[in-house]
Amino acid sequence: MSKDSKEHQEIFQSAVIYQVYPKSFCDSTGSGTGDIKGIISKLDYLENLGVNYIWFNPIFSSPGEDNGYDVANYYSIDPMYGTMEDVEELIKEAGQRGIYLMFDMVFNHTSTECEWFKKAIAGDLYYQDFYIFKNGSSSNTPPNNWQSKFGGSAWEYIPQLDKYYLHLFSRGQADLNWDNPAVREECAKIVNFWIAKGIKGFRFDVVNLLSKNEYSDDPYGLDGRQYYTDGKNIHKYIHELNEASFGQFPEVVTVGEMSSTTVENCVKYTNPSSHELDMVFTFHHLKTDYKDGNKWELQPLDFIQLKKYIFQWQSALCKEDGWNALFWNNHDQPRSLSRFGDEGRYWKESATMLATCIHLLRGTPYVYQGEELGMTNAGFTRIEQYEDIESRNMYDILLNRGISKNEVLHILQQRSRDNSRTPMQWTPGIEAGFTSGDPWLSVNPNHVTINAESQVNDPSSIFTYYKHLIALRHEMPIIQKGDIQSLYEDDPHIFGYKRCLKDDELIVLCNFDKCETMVKLPSHEDYELLLSNYEAVSESCATETPHESLYTSSVIKDNVILRPYEALVCIKKR
Ligand code: GLC
Repeated sequence: MSKDSKEHQEIFQSAVIYQVYPKSFCDSTGSGTGDIKGIISKLDYLENLGVNYIWFNPIFSSPGEDNGYDVANYYSIDPMYGTMEDVEELIKEAGQRGIYLMFDMVFNHTSTECEWFKKAIAGDLYYQDFYIFKNGSSSNTPPNNWQSKFGGSAWEYIPQLDKYYLHLFSRGQADLNWDNPAVREECAKIVNFWIAKGIKGFRFDVVNLLSKNEYSDDPYGLDGRQYYTDGKNIHKYIHELNEASFGQFPEVVTVGEMSSTTVENCVKYTNPSSHELDMVFTFHHLKTDYKDGNKWELQPLDFIQLKKYIFQWQSALCKEDGWNALFWNNHDQPRSLSRFGDEGRYWKESATMLATCIHLLRGTPYVYQGEELGMTNAGFTRIEQYEDIESRNMYDILLNRGISKNEVLHILQQRSRDNSRTPMQWTPGIEAGFTSGDPWLSVNPNHVTINAESQVNDPSSIFTYYKHLIALRHEMPIIQKGDIQSLYEDDPHIFGYKRCLKDDELIVLCNFDKCETMVKLPSHEDYELLLSNYEAVSESCATETPHESLYTSSVIKDNVILRPYEALVCIKKR
């Protein structure tokens, strides 16, 4: 099998990947933070769900300023999570259940506690060239006006060197200099080390920021991203990493996290002939409730724009043989159910509708822990409840801009990354069964009703619905490889699309609204119901709606009325 072979592509086309946020998944010791042994104890749960890979957020040694995205040592496991032996056991135990592990490689920056950085600031010139040190533009002024993505200047002054270093993220995350071949070699070495341990997947953190073009002032007073996003050598550097490490191992799957990227670049990142990555995470669709692109200004979801972005990527990557990672949720995003669905009356319907919508697109679906249970936003009401560095920084910044405390807390309730980081809800019991100690981040009180224990054996639960969706991807070539075409692009409520493979056709219809909506099917042919997120219609409304025929004969024709947050998946009858 070679890296651009059909066999390699089939691995990730048929796979579903589950994301574990290790700090919040399962605590086996009572420390209040999740750990590797806790994850091992839940492998049966993940096997039952049917996922193929587990992506872990970084578990390497780290001071934890950005919860592990500030790596101090890429070859060692943070004691908070366990030991190297624990990881070896995890690889073995997961492998026995047919599950592979995907590690999160943070190569845009290291922690300032990393040996490389410590040597650099102690005066070692070899290691100074590992980072981006620059002179100030004048005394007491940073080299340029770039802003850190977590707020404030992207430069920090080191008095003993009389220079500034670049940190696109927090002060404790110093950007690596990828123009230095020694940095590129070190990173390839790290990947190879973990492949030798048995890791079969890699997610590369903000990987399209590695190549910086130049260090000029941002003329628009923005954060400077135009100078380092999809930079001039980025394809060369990713290709080189591929050749020097994972590209030698066709069973290894890769995904790049792309910050503010373009479709053209994503085609290049993922087209098999480029020998770069298998797939990309892009975020345009998750900014359609940002006012003027600003995460910290709220606006209602622009649903038409959301569809536009998703289909722009879907169709370009389909046409040009690229590949998407499909997701609504991750550890940086508020819970999609609270954001795009209805966590009240239509909790189950909207959770399963969102799942249907994302899972049947063309790409590889990712399930973020707790999503399969319908977990919701944290609902914190005090700043002391937040742990996330970005949320805490933004709290101060927004207050300084004159926004009232209540308004800032309201914004954090919608936008904070801690919304998705609350502990996994295993049981209705104390601390949701996550820990026997004091959890590092408060458990959502709704664990008494939303938890795994009540769902795993319930045939009508959100968990069971996810199992069906995952099994469908495993079984159906049309879901794995079919082309995609958008439907009803201008409809204000319906997200619809068609997947086609040879003569087969699959139609997905999702109602993003609380109201019933009538949909005219794209052709006059008969369609057969494959999946629905509603149980059979209740007696009282069975007779009049088109669902009557739908559920009694499983044939759908011409028009259907979709109920609140209803999702229907149909196959064209032959
Ligand atoms: C990525 C991670 C995020 C982290 C940032 C800096 O966006 O997903 O959690 O803070 O990179 O490493």
